[in-house]
Amino acid sequence: MYYDSRPRMNESTPQKLAGSSGEMLWGFWYPALRSNQVRRRKLVRATLLEVPMVLGRDAGGKPFALRDVCPHRAFPLSFGHFDDTSVECAYHGWQFDAHTGQCRHIPSLTADSKLRCDRIYAGSFPSEERDGYIWAFMSNPEGRAPALGPIPPPPELPTFSPHYKIARLAADLPCSVDHGIIGLMDPAHGPFVHQAWWWRSRQSIRDKAKQFEPIPNGFRMSPHPPSANSAPYKILKLITSEPATTTIDFVLPNQRFEQIRAGKYWLSSRTTVTPIRRDLCRLDFVAAWNVLPWFPIVWFILHVLGPRFIRQDTAVIEKQSLGLEHEDRMMLVDDADRQARWYFELKAAHLESQRTGQPMHHPIAGPVTLRWRS
Ligand code: FES
Ligand SMILES: [Fe+2]
Repeated sequence: MYYDSRPRMNESTPQKLAGSSGEMLWGFWYPALRSNQVRRRKLVRATLLEVPMVLGRDAGGKPFALRDVCPHRAFPLSFGHFDDTSVECAYHGWQFDAHTGQCRHIPSLTADSKLRCDRIYAGSFPSEERDGYIWAFMSNPEGRAPALGPIPPPPELPTFSPHYKIARLAADLPCSVDHGIIGLMDPAHGPFVHQAWWWRSRQSIRDKAKQFEPIPNGFRMSPHPPSANSAPYKILKLITSEPATTTIDFVLPNQRFEQIRAGKYWLSSRTTVTPIRRDLCRLDFVAAWNVLPWFPIVWFILHVLGPRFIRQDTAVIEKQSLGLEHEDRMMLVDDADRQARWYFELKAAHLESQRTGQPMHHPIAGPVTLRWRS
């Protein structure tokens, strides 16, 4: 492919994009596993941000997450044993508190040993269960205690009534977290990747104008009537005469929230793209809704269309990875790719604030309207 190399205002190549190197962001919560993958008295392995982890639940069901590397001689703790409070390494039997990683016992020490085993720690990560996932707070790669005071709670899927249905989907994406995330917020691929006679096609491409505003750590597509050709919107129109609005938020490090509301009906979803390795991410999608739970079309959207969409996105990223092997090409064109650009700017601003200790300088000054065709 030939690109005109004259410099222009609205394009950029990877060299010009600070924070676009697939760098992973520390000091955030990430979903490690689904709740039902972690049972009591079982140790389960996971990888997050290239950190090998072992997860489990204590006697009260509270989850824990340790670095899967014994501080003695690096034996994976996941081969060991868990007795409801301590994880015991299978090599020399050292025992570690499941929640803090603090060493509790070293079987080879004699009674008069001067070694203070309580000064030895296995790496550990704060862990909590929410929305059907076990989350880990990835403070730093070693699993040292987070340096700054209390940590925020893990992100929560917003819900708007006491009763609702919930569903979850997941997919592996063979790409860096950056390509995974900008794929998630990219409005221009829809008519090409998600073509279907009942959805949209090249012929349905038309001008779009959407208003955006800055929010803490991210940006919001301001509440607006949902795209007239979106399936949830068509359903809402069938069942309620109230006007519907959609709000879409992106929040660092990796979360996209979408809410559709019409009168008392609502549908709320969260998608996260979590780096597993530098070249592999996992997409986790969770949706809750109170739109006639028995109405088969909602089931159809979440169980047939949702997986189909995710399969289409996964297939496109698999093919893209063939090209990226040869050249890590990233050209961002306004306005369709402006959200991707904001993502990189937010990421760079966050890294800068971590480096300097100063508050993050938000790259988006105020409300702005973006125009594109899709
Ligand atoms: S390597 Fe774990 S106890 Fe020795
Ligand atoms: Fe997509």
